[in-house]
Amino acid sequence: MTIKQCVKQYAPLLKEVTHIPAKEVEILIMHLLDVNVIYLHLNEDKTFTKIKELEKLINKRVKHYPLEYLTKQVSFYGETFIIEDNILIPRPETEILVQKAYELLKNIKNPKIIEVGTGSGIISIILAKLIPSLQSIAGDINDDALNLALKNAKKHKVEHQVEFIKSNLLEYISKDIAQSFDMCISNPPYIADDYTLPANVKFEPKNALFAGTKGDELIKTLLNQVSNKNIKYFYCEFGYDQKSYIINFAKKFDIKSLEFYKDYSNFDRGFLIEFNITNNQ
Ligand SMILES: C[S@@+](CC[C@H](N)C(=O)[O-])C[C@H]1O[C@@H](n2cnc3c(N)ncnc32)[C@H](O)[C@@H]1O
Repeated sequence: MTIKQCVKQYAPLLKEVTHIPAKEVEILIMHLLDVNVIYLHLNEDKTFTKIKELEKLINKRVKHYPLEYLTKQVSFYGETFIIEDNILIPRPETEILVQKAYELLKNIKNPKIIEVGTGSGIISIILAKLIPSLQSIAGDINDDALNLALKNAKKHKVEHQVEFIKSNLLEYISKDIAQSFDMCISNPPYIADDYTLPANVKFEPKNALFAGTKGDELIKTLLNQVSNKNIKYFYCEFGYDQKSYIINFAKKFDIKSLEFYKDYSNFDRGFLIEFNITNNQ
């Protein structure tokens, strides 16, 4: 069977899973042959020899297994990252968080950030690429995530800028160290425990998604820690329905400003808090 015939034969199997079935079959073929789209189109009449391997991948995809886990690749902020099972697949909305943080950090000399819940490392890595003088400590509770994040940092040649550590939120970072940082940034788990996930998301790690009965529990704990540890800025992604909780919760802190931002679908998606910092703490 030629490459072209293969795409025609297998695309209908993915009709219920994706709105781009033919494109996805092409992506899987490119992955198996380790070639790019130009090669694929110039050689579409060549015999495709890896049918068995392709069928294995298609069978998984039919069950909504994410394409990114099959190809072990994900695109974020125009860059390609390695992704693996048991680590959250980066979402396009998080590019907004990165862009917003970049706008603020680019005006700070030699900025230092702490990232909480780094996952595949994308936030700290992109910020390190955008700002070569930036230093980051990026934490996670998931060892697999920390190993992958380091691989991604090396792939993007920023491993000298980002230190990956195992930490439950900011627990293992002392106040002395934390307060020398300009910003805490996070895309934490923020989904309520009883929320029913779409079929494809069910394959992603639960502890990267769920955060408690209401879903804002981890964010609130983190907010307490950022305030206690005297970090000036906190940039955080959150659930579209959590704005009012954050407004109420933030009242207990001495803050200079609280701003919210929306995602591409015009849903509330995150916030920036600037704390009033006392230098003698
Ligand atoms: C929504 S994912 C975000 C991953 C990545 N930053 C991104 O935007 O794609 C949340 C991450 O937080 C980590 N995490 C969950 N609970 C945590 C905790 N208590 N302390 C630190 N990290 C945590 C998860 O392992 C996961 O990698």
